[in-house]
Amino acid sequence: MNRSIIKELLKSNEFDTTVLVKGWVRTKRGNNNVAFVAVNDGSTIHNIQVVIDVPSFDPELLRKITTGASVGVQGKLMESKGQGQTVEIIAEKVELYGEADPEVYPLQKKGHSFEFLREIAHLRVRTNTFGAVYRIRHAMAFAIHKYFNDLGFYYVHTPIITASDAEGAGEMFRVSTLDPENLPLTEDKKVDYSKDFFGKATNLTVSGQLEGELAALALGGIYTFGPTFRAENSNTPRHLAEFWMIEPEMAFYDITDNMNLAEDFLKYLINYALDNCADDLAFLNSMVDKELLERLKFVVNNSFIRMSYEGAIDILKSSGQKFEFPVSWGLDLQAEHERYLVEKHFKCPVILTDYPREIKAFYMKQNEDNKTVRAMDVLFPRIGEIIGGSQREEDYDKLLNRIREMGMPEKEMDWYLDTRRFGTVVHSGFGLGFERLLLFVTGMANIRDVIPFPRTPRNAEF
Ligand code: 4AD
Ligand code: MG
Repeated sequence: MNRSIIKELLKSNEFDTTVLVKGWVRTKRGNNNVAFVAVNDGSTIHNIQVVIDVPSFDPELLRKITTGASVGVQGKLMESKGQGQTVEIIAEKVELYGEADPEVYPLQKKGHSFEFLREIAHLRVRTNTFGAVYRIRHAMAFAIHKYFNDLGFYYVHTPIITASDAEGAGEMFRVSTLDPENLPLTEDKKVDYSKDFFGKATNLTVSGQLEGELAALALGGIYTFGPTFRAENSNTPRHLAEFWMIEPEMAFYDITDNMNLAEDFLKYLINYALDNCADDLAFLNSMVDKELLERLKFVVNNSFIRMSYEGAIDILKSSGQKFEFPVSWGLDLQAEHERYLVEKHFKCPVILTDYPREIKAFYMKQNEDNKTVRAMDVLFPRIGEIIGGSQREEDYDKLLNRIREMGMPEKEMDWYLDTRRFGTVVHSGFGLGFERLLLFVTGMANIRDVIPFPRTPRNAEF
């Protein structure tokens, strides 16, 4: 007999039919006559209740049906008389696949702290909260592809291993097959990367943008969606060393088109979650963050505020607020400033534009004032920066000058400069941090809890 998916059975009204479910025991309660076993198969946050007539089953088998054990249950689907569920299964056959010794299985009924669950990340997906987070993560990934596919954008696979530093911030993980105990040296005693696997120094990518631009200048609208790596020593609830980023890049888009797309995209994703992940969101709203649903609905129903960096600095300066990092023009805004603007001042998502060029990457379009660049950051409540992007410098000479000013390896950038040499056009793009989006959508407080196996400084378990 075929296994039924619990999510479907819970909606079924084909009572008195025989069904088979397979899953993991969440709880067992009852007495010498009847036992109630809650079984979950991962298809939904909800369990199905299995009713067992205790005297008709082998006591040894029932003893082993404990939290975490895997089982197959065949029985009649019935309308439930109990509270909290609409259907239940009256067990006829119960098969135990794998025991989970209650003496040692760490996920017993009691609630566990997220810190503890991080230490057993290989098992935490079996909890309600992490089941919900994993399902929402999937739904958001699917919605991202759907959104861009419906818009006619192409999904482009950019390299993971690269020789360039797209953000120019130098926070890269080296990729090398050289023996660290016995490094080949050049005559002036530097490491000789010409002997390395790729014949030069390479690293894990910090962003797919530069290669994404190449594709956009032929295909029109593209997006990347892949892992990116940053060796920044940031121990915060919003930073990972390995995170996933979505980077759309569009020919013929200026900064305003770029902002419109970013706002529409974020609202689409949040709406998608509200429409398709209602059960999981309801669970998270009641167990993790009581304001979650309200916050999600607020964001989809209100226009984001748009203003310049300079305007934001003025607001911060006159706020009377004491910040850890003092505010003046030129400051790279910290989470404390971003959150003040969004949570206290505007109480609404904000898109800031026209940042000082000194604090932004080399590729951003330079404004006529010679001070600022056409950057845009989208700031969200609880998160701070969720998106960073810009219109790109499409002028060959200006871009080359900036590369030189910043002391970047000009020869290595030849392929990138070629886009400006041949058929250059106005173009723009942005990067959405996938886990920052998930923090917002799930209401989870720590970025380590929205990716299955987080990589952070001094931690690469599992
Ligand atoms: O602002 P960032 O560094 O921008 C870029 O990488 C550009 N190449 C994007 C583009 O224009 N195509 O990063 C983009 C986003 C941030 O807004 C943030 O959401 C996320 O990536 N992000 C991180 N998420 C988790 N951990 C980190 N260490 C992150 N660094 C950036
Ligand atoms: Mg940024």
